[in-house]
Amino acid sequence: MALWTYKYRPKKLDDIIGNEQAKQIVRAWAEAWNSGKPQKPLLLYGPPGVGKTATAYAVASEYGWDLVEMNASDSRDRATVERILGAAAQASSLFGGRKLILIDEVDGLSPKEDAGGVKAIIEILQKSKNPVMLTANDAWAPSVMPLHPYVKMVEYKRISPSVLASYLMKILDKEGIPYDREAIIYLAKKESGDVRAALLDLQAVARYGLKITLDLVKDLGYRDREASIFEVLAKIFKSERVVRPFALTATLDMDPEMFTYWIVENIPREYEDPEEVAEAFKWVSRADVFNGRIIRRQYWGFLSYAQELLVNGVIIAKKRPYRKFTRYSYPTWIKLLSRYKDKLKKRNELARKLGKLFHLSRRRVITEVLPFLPLWFKNKEWARAIIRKARLTEDEVALILGTSPTDPKVKELMEG
Ligand SMILES: Nc1ncnc2c1ncn2[C@@H]1O[C@H](COP(=O)(O)OP(=O)(O)OP(=O)(O)O)[C@@H](O)[C@H]1O
Ligand SMILES: [Mg+2]
Repeated sequence: MALWTYKYRPKKLDDIIGNEQAKQIVRAWAEAWNSGKPQKPLLLYGPPGVGKTATAYAVASEYGWDLVEMNASDSRDRATVERILGAAAQASSLFGGRKLILIDEVDGLSPKEDAGGVKAIIEILQKSKNPVMLTANDAWAPSVMPLHPYVKMVEYKRISPSVLASYLMKILDKEGIPYDREAIIYLAKKESGDVRAALLDLQAVARYGLKITLDLVKDLGYRDREASIFEVLAKIFKSERVVRPFALTATLDMDPEMFTYWIVENIPREYEDPEEVAEAFKWVSRADVFNGRIIRRQYWGFLSYAQELLVNGVIIAKKRPYRKFTRYSYPTWIKLLSRYKDKLKKRNELARKLGKLFHLSRRRVITEVLPFLPLWFKNKEWARAIIRKARLTEDEVALILGTSPTDPKVKELMEG
């Protein structure tokens, strides 16, 4: 399994593209430490996917320092901060090499809940005998403000489209994948300077094994194309004829279960004739039954036949479209809270494990890795490698595949 963000992770500072100024500061800082001059901790801050965490890794590997890391998926109460970082902060460099302490995504700390953790971090910043780097997207988040007096701020900016494009082309050349330049330039512009997102998207298109053309790239579900649930509902409820559900829901950032809840909640708001309501519900339940209960089986793709039944069943349930404006409503949480919460908990735990593996925050795993995983898992070798490295359970593999843990497909991957 070779996720490109991992395969091409920067191994030295010069491998990091863009942000020349920031790199200069980091280089001088690392050189100073290397010649025995302690330096103030650095806070690398800026938008996602531009190389903040990668900088820490690159410095550690280039200078041969051990990396001691605390990331957003570790709980960050005082005890944990001290357990993970305390010793590293004290250790002199007399024995063994130097240690680089990385406190990743400090803006994820809650100033209230993690107050003890923030204090413990400040102590580390003050007393550390080893170099310390912190990262954050938002340097002015409430949990980060109290750290300001103890750090030197280093800003990371989005990578310019031209720099990003030539980097992507270099990777494609190395992979031996043919491409049209215009396609890569288009993709680089679309990614708003986020190298990680660009690599993930690029690898997603590359998996077709075709030449990467503009059309292929445009087909990618871009974030800016993301449909709102309200638009999608209006299209379904107002449509006079059946549709290709995938075209409607592909860019909807929502799992099928939640989508079903939205439909169910809003059927009686749109349809006024009780017969229509009954008919629509009939289709919802058919879709549900057909897919062996969509409610229990989770998957992130919307490519299923159940989706077809659900969307088109609801469309044809009406006699004619209502010309009124309907205020669609959020699904009534009370009813679905416990079951949905349980699922969210499972998903978050899965995201935490994958985050450790990919060095991503849970949030980014959810938005950027999970949607791709069902496709990645088509390659059994990759699937098995991910399962092994992230120590996924049967339940979690089932969650990824959108099936039940007893499905032979799950067993097959687990046993590999
Ligand atoms: N400037 C860069 N040069 C080369 N590769 C990069 C760069 N920025 C990001 N990448 C690639 O994207 C991956 C993720 O980058 P990284 O973890 O450093 O992002 P980040 O800035 O820490 O983002 P976040 O704010 O989401 O934590 C890296 O492993 C690397 O493959
Ligand atoms: Mg990071």
